[in-house]
Amino acid sequence: MPYDRFGRHLHYLRISLTDRCNLRCVYCMPEDMTFMPNAALMQDDEILRLVRIFASLGVDKIRLTGGEPTVRPHIVDLVRGIRQTPGIREITMTTNGLLLSRLAKPLAEAGLNRVNVSLDTLHAGKFRRLTRWGDIEDVLDGIRAAEEAGLQPVKLNAVVVRGYNEEDVVEMARLTLAHPWQVRFIEMMPFAGATEFQRMMLVTAEEMKARIEAALGALEPVDGGRLDGEARLFRLPGARGQVGFIASVSQPFCAACTRLRLASDGHLRLCLLREDEADILTPLRAGATDEELRRLIAAAAWRKPWGHGLAEGEAPQDRTMSQIGG
Ligand code: 5AD
Ligand code: SF4
Repeated sequence: MPYDRFGRHLHYLRISLTDRCNLRCVYCMPEDMTFMPNAALMQDDEILRLVRIFASLGVDKIRLTGGEPTVRPHIVDLVRGIRQTPGIREITMTTNGLLLSRLAKPLAEAGLNRVNVSLDTLHAGKFRRLTRWGDIEDVLDGIRAAEEAGLQPVKLNAVVVRGYNEEDVVEMARLTLAHPWQVRFIEMMPFAGATEFQRMMLVTAEEMKARIEAALGALEPVDGGRLDGEARLFRLPGARGQVGFIASVSQPFCAACTRLRLASDGHLRLCLLREDEADILTPLRAGATDEELRRLIAAAAWRKPWGHGLAEGEAPQDRTMSQIGG
């Protein structure tokens, strides 16, 4: 356990630590985003208790997300606490990298295994346009610090947006020639708030791949083209790193999904792109026992939907990406 009714072994839990972020990426949230009050967020002791319960159910892999997880106070202590939970084999983080130059070393020392850093372009101006107020140098410093701290292999996540960075896939892929990084290109998904923009500016993985191959040569499938988590991996001839495509919209990988997601307000989200959730935090605060919470979680996991409904024109309208945690 936990399994769902389709036999998928849900051993991977993504925890959104906060809906707040120090950027405002155009594909993620509006510039004037309003955030949840602190009291609505899971507190550190609540997170650690839930991690223990999930681990007792068979979860062995945790990814911390946001919003931006590094803006959460006590993040280093929280990572240490999760790492020390019996049964947790791996803990990773998805971050925009802005604060990594300061935090990479203490996070690694606290037991963080790896980071995925979001970086959509290598141009300072385009970066600013995509993130609305970020400085790319901070991210590049952060990536260096992560490597030095041993948070390897570094994975870079690039969401590709038409009119913003679709041409940059070539330069980003070229990074893998010299660096042992995994550069992953992500199809933009539709969420509440920006659904029309997200649909209109979608660039498919097929188009990204064609652009890269036209400039840099054929991409060779890694492992016979099998999925590695959500990414299909390739390698440029002679490259040290890998290029991945996350084609959530055009080629959903739902059949292989092993995830559960805990939103920052303690709602267990059963699929990133479906609205069905189970509120775990309210019963926890009302005094539920570990066993009661375990039953609640297992029952919710069981009803995890088979897949998302983007192909049928359905997109979740209840939350933005930053509230669910990627
Ligand atoms: N579609 C796909 N990926 C997204 N992210 C944020 N919004 C979207 C979206 N609409 C990605 C970020 C980051 C991770 C947290 O989620 O780029 O890598
Ligand atoms: Fe922040 Fe990540 Fe959303 Fe960008 S995509 S606004 S970095 S949470």
